[in-house]
Amino acid sequence: MKKFYLTTAIDYANGSPHLGHAYEKILADVIARTQRLLGRETKFVTGLDEHGQKVQQGAEAEGIEPQLRCDRIAEEFKDVLGKLEISHDDYIRTTEQRHKEVVGELLQNLFDAGDIYQDEYEGFYSTRAEQFLQEKDKVNGEWPEIFGEVTRITEKNYFFKLSNYQDWLIEYIQNEEGFILPEYRKSQVLEFLKDPLNDLCISRPIERLSWGIPLPFDPDYVTYVWFDALVNYVTAAGYGTEEFNQYWPADVHVIGKDILAPPHAVYWPIMLKASNLPLPRQILAHGWWTTSGAKMSKSTGETVSPLALADQYGADAFRFFVMREMTVGQDAEFSLERFSSRYKGELGNDLGNLVSRLLHMCHQYFGGTAPDQELNEEVEQNLQARWKETAAKTLEFYETYHFHQALEETIGFVRAINKYADERAPWKLAKSDDPNDGKALATSLATMLEGLRLANELLAPVMPGTHAKICQCLSQEPVKVWSDRLEWSNRLAKVELGQKIILFPRD
Ligand code: MSP
Repeated sequence: MKKFYLTTAIDYANGSPHLGHAYEKILADVIARTQRLLGRETKFVTGLDEHGQKVQQGAEAEGIEPQLRCDRIAEEFKDVLGKLEISHDDYIRTTEQRHKEVVGELLQNLFDAGDIYQDEYEGFYSTRAEQFLQEKDKVNGEWPEIFGEVTRITEKNYFFKLSNYQDWLIEYIQNEEGFILPEYRKSQVLEFLKDPLNDLCISRPIERLSWGIPLPFDPDYVTYVWFDALVNYVTAAGYGTEEFNQYWPADVHVIGKDILAPPHAVYWPIMLKASNLPLPRQILAHGWWTTSGAKMSKSTGETVSPLALADQYGADAFRFFVMREMTVGQDAEFSLERFSSRYKGELGNDLGNLVSRLLHMCHQYFGGTAPDQELNEEVEQNLQARWKETAAKTLEFYETYHFHQALEETIGFVRAINKYADERAPWKLAKSDDPNDGKALATSLATMLEGLRLANELLAPVMPGTHAKICQCLSQEPVKVWSDRLEWSNRLAKVELGQKIILFPRD
């Protein structure tokens, strides 16, 4: 049986993790957790891209071996994954032996098949950017500052015949609905494919770049950037082993929009096609977080790193914020004000207050034992109908990667529970001696408890820690598979409830 296999971009080992890296891993984690909750066996892989000029230079500047530097950076990135409750099953590093072997094998096969050839390259080269340039890179007839000194060089290198596959790729992308997501990015890729593709230079001479994987057919060269990095997806799926077919093709590659075209939407499909491997089912390209440092420092008196918010407010609040705020595919501006407003509003006022006042009332009026839902009147039925709608919509949003809407819908349901509470007003009913009011009191708290239990089920992919805490208050095990746990039930009747907790404290 094919398992759900998803990956993220592997981060460059030439700097420290930041919000962009963190967001992507959270996004993929939410997808992975959703799939598991839907009952699908899932493999979720992320990792580190460790070769290349910048890594080599960084190590030289520090006077240490590149591997040592990568080991340290890998720990830093893995720390962040732990802090953010990322539930990856594997962490692949491109300097691992398993990866070098797969890269070597794929390169050799493509070389044998004639898809890789050696050629003399003559052209402009930027030492600063470590990049070959074309006339079209000039701005107003001049090389932009970022390229530093540009010289004409002649160098022998190896090239991959992208051009042979251009027509096939255009047709594939045009016909394969849902291959590139969001759908509007597809036209950008097709636009890119309007110009004839240049064959891709895949090597660097070892005297210029030693920190790479050697070409199996020419030890004087290492492979360069994408032929190394992209292959991680098949390495981690167990290329060459029996389990490979359980995972490959990948169900979704989660990446940023900057590495969609050409790397993931052009080079990678062609590399796979030429290697006779099936293409991934989906490539999901998310947008960018932008930050205006000045604004942040102004409001707080100091510059706050977005990742520090996870330390201060907990992983769940941070995860909630990035998933709630960003429409997958589009850019979003990070600001402390927005974080604070979501934290205080949707998390503190809507969800947090419901939990604390509900538990408080259950202890005050029923000694901490969940009452039975004794009545089922119009107000209860309205909330139940609202739940049905919320559950259906939210699942659809989760499956189609519309996470901000999934959360909007779920928090909307939490608000509906609070509104229901205002309608029933259990605090007033508790003051009455009328037996009917007694039934209404039991019903109102039972209904709110069940509503909270259900809303909490839908929060599990985004806020696993909060989900577990609320489950504990309700004497439930954290959810493993949604299945019948999403149905309105009376499963909480008579359970012993935990003490009131403050989920999202104010600072
Ligand atoms: N190493 C390559 C990817 C190879 S995948 C086979 C790379 N690394 S990266 O560290 O520069 O970026 C890793 C991921 O983080 C990319 O998907 C990139 O889009 C994402 N982000 C980096 N900065 C970002 C933001 N400011 N906002 C959101 N994500 C961005 O590219």
